Amino acid sequence: MVKRWPIKEEGDASILNEKIHFPTSQRVAKNRLLKPPMTESMSSWDSNDIKKSGIPTQKAINIYEKWGLGGFGMCITGNIFVDPKHMEVHGNSLIHPSIDTHERKNAFKRCANVLQGGGALAIAQLNHGGRLTPITFNEQPWAPSSIQHQAKINFLGKHGVPKELGKSDIQNEIIPLFVYAAKYCYEAGFNGVQIHAAFGYLLSEFLTTNTNKRTDEYGGTIENRARIIKEIYQAIRSVYGMTDVINSGVADGVGIGRPSMAEPDIATKILTKQVQSVAYNNMEANYIFYSMSSVAQLNQAASTSVEEAHGNLTYGISDYSCPHKAFFFKVTFSLKMIPTMIKKSIFG
Ligand SMILES: Cc1cc2nc3c(=O)[nH]c(=O)nc-3n(C[C@H](O)[C@H](O)[C@H](O)COP(=O)(O)O)c2cc1C
Repeated sequence: MVKRWPIKEEGDASILNEKIHFPTSQRVAKNRLLKPPMTESMSSWDSNDIKKSGIPTQKAINIYEKWGLGGFGMCITGNIFVDPKHMEVHGNSLIHPSIDTHERKNAFKRCANVLQGGGALAIAQLNHGGRLTPITFNEQPWAPSSIQHQAKINFLGKHGVPKELGKSDIQNEIIPLFVYAAKYCYEAGFNGVQIHAAFGYLLSEFLTTNTNKRTDEYGGTIENRARIIKEIYQAIRSVYGMTDVINSGVADGVGIGRPSMAEPDIATKILTKQVQSVAYNNMEANYIFYSMSSVAQLNQAASTSVEEAHGNLTYGISDYSCPHKAFFFKVTFSLKMIPTMIKKSIFG
C-alpha cells in the first residue's frame, strides 16, 4: 500500500474537478489538474543520421498513453527541441524543417492522440537550448549575448562560448523555428503549444540581465527582453488564416481593425472573392507608425462622403503597402508630431 502525505482532515476536492475555459483559444480543460512538462528523453537517437533522431519511440507513447488515461485536464509533453543544433541530450524529441519525415509526423500524431485518450488537452512544449546546448552538440551555440554557461558540475557536458544572435538571426532563424514547430504540432493534432521560457534555455536567457547584455530592442528594459517571446506568440497566431481559426473553433468570427481604415470595403472584397487577404502596411513592424498611418487613412476616408467619392469607398486613401509612401509618412509624421509630443510632455 502506497504511503501518502498525512492530511489534517478530509477536504472537499470538488473545485479540482471544475472545468477551465481558456478565453483566447476557446479550449476547455475538463478539470484543474495538469501534467506538467517533464523531459522524457525517450525519442530515437542515431548519431549518423539526424533524420532518424528525435522521433518519439514506443516508450514515449506508452507513458503518454498512461498520463492521457490518468485523469488530467491537460497534459504537456516534455520539452521538444526546435533545432537539432540546440538540443540537450540524446533522446530529446526534435521538430525541424530539415528532418521532417512521415515517420516523425506519425509518431507525433500518435503522441497527441494517446495524450487525449482520456479527454485531456494535449499540449506540446517547445524549446531551444540556447547557450545550455552541450558542447557535444554545438561548440558555439546561439545566445542573446556571448556569455558562456559555467557550472561547477556539468551533468550534461560542458558548454561552449556562445555566439550572439544578430537581430536578423532572431527574426529570420529563431522565430520561424518556433512557428514551424507549432504548426507541425497543430497538424499532428495537439490542442496547443507551450513556449519554454525558463530554466536557462534560450528564451529565458533573453529575460534575465545576467545573460542578456544587448543594447538593441531585444535587450535593456523587461519589455525589450521579453520581445522575442511576444514576437514568437504573435508569429504563431498569425500562421493560420481567417477560415482556419473559425473551422478549428478558436474563434467565431474575425475582427478587421486597421486594415478596414485602409479599405473600408475589405469585407465585400473578401466575401465576393476579389481578394484573399487584407492590405499590407509597410509600417506593421512598428506599432506607433502602423497605428498612426491607419489614423491618417481614417481621416482621408472621412474627408469625403460616398457621394463626393463617386461611390469609390477607398477614394483618397493613401496606399501604405507602397514603400515610398510609407517612408514619406514616417518622415512627415516624425517631423510634425514628435516635436509637438515632446513640447506637450514638458509644458503640459
Ligand atoms: C525529470 C524532470 C524533467 C523536467 N523537464 C521539464 C521540461 O522538459 N520542461 C519544463 O518546463 N519543466 C521541466 N521540469 C519541471 C517540471 O515541469 C515541474 O515544474 C517541476 O517538477 C516541479 O513540479 P513538482 O514539484 O510537482 O514536480 C522537469 C522536472 C523533472 C523532475
